[in-house]
Amino acid sequence: MKILTKNRLGLALALCILSGSVLAGTILGSKHDFTGLNERAEVTAMSGLAFADYGNPCVYCHLPPEKEGADSSELGGIPGWNRFTPAVDSAYDLYDSRNLDNKVKTPSPISLLCLSCHDGTLAVDMTVFKPDTWNSSEDASLHLRLNGGDSLMNCGKCHNGIAAHSIEIKHIGTDLQNDHPISMEYAGLNSKDPDFRPVDHAYGFDNGVKIYDNKVECASCHNVHNPDVNLLLRTGAERLCETCHIK
Ligand code: HEC
Ligand code: HEC
Ligand code: HEC
Ligand code: HEC
Ligand code: HEC
Repeated sequence: MKILTKNRLGLALALCILSGSVLAGTILGSKHDFTGLNERAEVTAMSGLAFADYGNPCVYCHLPPEKEGADSSELGGIPGWNRFTPAVDSAYDLYDSRNLDNKVKTPSPISLLCLSCHDGTLAVDMTVFKPDTWNSSEDASLHLRLNGGDSLMNCGKCHNGIAAHSIEIKHIGTDLQNDHPISMEYAGLNSKDPDFRPVDHAYGFDNGVKIYDNKVECASCHNVHNPDVNLLLRTGAERLCETCHIK
C-alpha cells in the first residue's frame, strides 16, 4: 500500500469520521481514488485531463453529501448510486450454462454500479450529480472511458501497454459469459444445494464474502474499500471459491 501524504491522510480521517466508518476511508490512495490518481501514478496526465476531478473521491460512486436522499433513478441513475444505468442494461450476456439453476438477464443495481465503469461504455466521471463545490466552467477534460480501444474516447489511448499499462484486463465489456455469474440467488441458502456452503449470517460469511438480498454480486467477492487484498478481493484468491463452493 502506498503511503498517503499528510493532507490526504487528514482528508481520509475527516471522511472516516463523517461516515462513521474506518473502512470507508481506505478507498483513498487506491485505484478507485480518482482525485488522487495523478499523485499516485506520479503523472499529471489524468485527473483534470482524462476525467474531471470533482475534488471528492466518493462521488464517483456515492451521492454527494448535499444530495443525500435524492433519487438518482429519476434522472436515469442506478437506484441509490451516483452513476447512470448503462444503456446496454438489458443487453448484458450474463454467464449461462446448462448446469446453472438460476438464469438472470439483468444485473442488480450494485453490480450495475461496477459495470457502469468496467463495461467501458460510459465515461468514468459520468456521475448523475456533481458536488456543489465543483466549478463546471473550469472543466477541460476528455471524459474518457475505461476501455482498451485506441481512440480519444478511451483510456486505452494511453493505456495500451506502451505509453502506460494496458487497461484491457480491467475492461470487462458487456459480454459477461466468460465471467463468474452474478445477480443470481445464492445456491447455498437453506442448504438447498449440497454443493454450496450455508451462509454464516444474513449478509454472507464470517470471512467477509457477502451476499446482497440473498444474491451473488461483484461486491460479494470484491471490496473496493479494501485495497489491502490483491485485486480488491474479499479474501485471498486461494480461499475465495471454497467459501461458497464445496467442490
Ligand atoms: C468505486 C466505487 C466507490 C467509491 C469511489 C466509494 N465507495 Fe463507498 N461503497 C461502495 C460500495 C460498492 C459499497 C457497498 C459495499 C458493501 O456492501 O460492502 C460502499 C459502501 C460504503 C459505505 C457503507 C459501508 C457499510 O459498511 O455499509 C460507506 C460509509 C462508504 N461506502 C463511504 C465511502 C466514502 C466516504 C468514500 C470516499 C472516501 C467512498 N465510499 C467511495 C463503492 C464506492
Ligand atoms: C467510477 C468508475 C469505476 C467504478 C464505478 C468501479 N470501478 Fe473498479 N476500477 C476503476 C478503475 C479506473 C480501475 C483501475 C484501472 C487500471 O488499473 O488500469 C479499477 C480497478 C478495479 C479492480 C482491479 C484493482 C487492482 O488492484 O488492479 C477491481 C477488482 C475493480 N476495479 C472492481 C470494481 C468493483 C467490484 C466495482 C463495483 C463495486 C467497481 N470496480 C466500480 C473504475 C471504476
Ligand atoms: C495521457 C495519457 C493517459 C491517459 C489519457 C490516461 N492515463 Fe492513466 N496513467 C498514465 C500514465 C503515464 C500512468 C503511469 C504509468 C502506468 O501506470 O502505466 C498512468 C497510471 C494510471 C493508473 C495507475 C495508478 C497506480 O498507481 O497504479 C490508473 C488506475 C490509471 N492510470 C487510470 C486511468 C483511467 C481510468 C484513465 C481514463 C479515464 C486514464 N488513466 C487515462 C497515462 C494516462
Ligand atoms: C465469484 C467471485 C467474483 C465475482 C462475482 C466477480 N469477481 Fe472480479 N475477480 C474475481 C477474482 C478471483 C479475480 C482475479 C482472478 C481473475 O482475474 O479471474 C477477479 C478479477 C477482477 C478484475 C481485475 C482483472 C485483473 O486481473 O486485473 C476486475 C476489474 C474485476 N474482477 C471486476 C469485477 C466486476 C465488475 C464484477 C461484476 C460484474 C466481478 N468482478 C465479479 C472474483 C470475482
Ligand atoms: C459468494 C459465493 C460464491 C463465491 C465466492 C464463488 N462462487 Fe462460483 N458460483 C456461486 C453460485 C451461487 C453459482 C451459481 C450456481 C447455480 O445457480 O447453479 C456459481 C457458479 C459458478 C460456476 C458455474 C457453474 C455452472 O454450473 O455453470 C463456476 C465455474 C464457478 N462458480 C466458479 C467459481 C470460482 C472459480 C470461484 C472463486 C474464484 C467462485 N466460483 C467463487 C457462488 C460463488
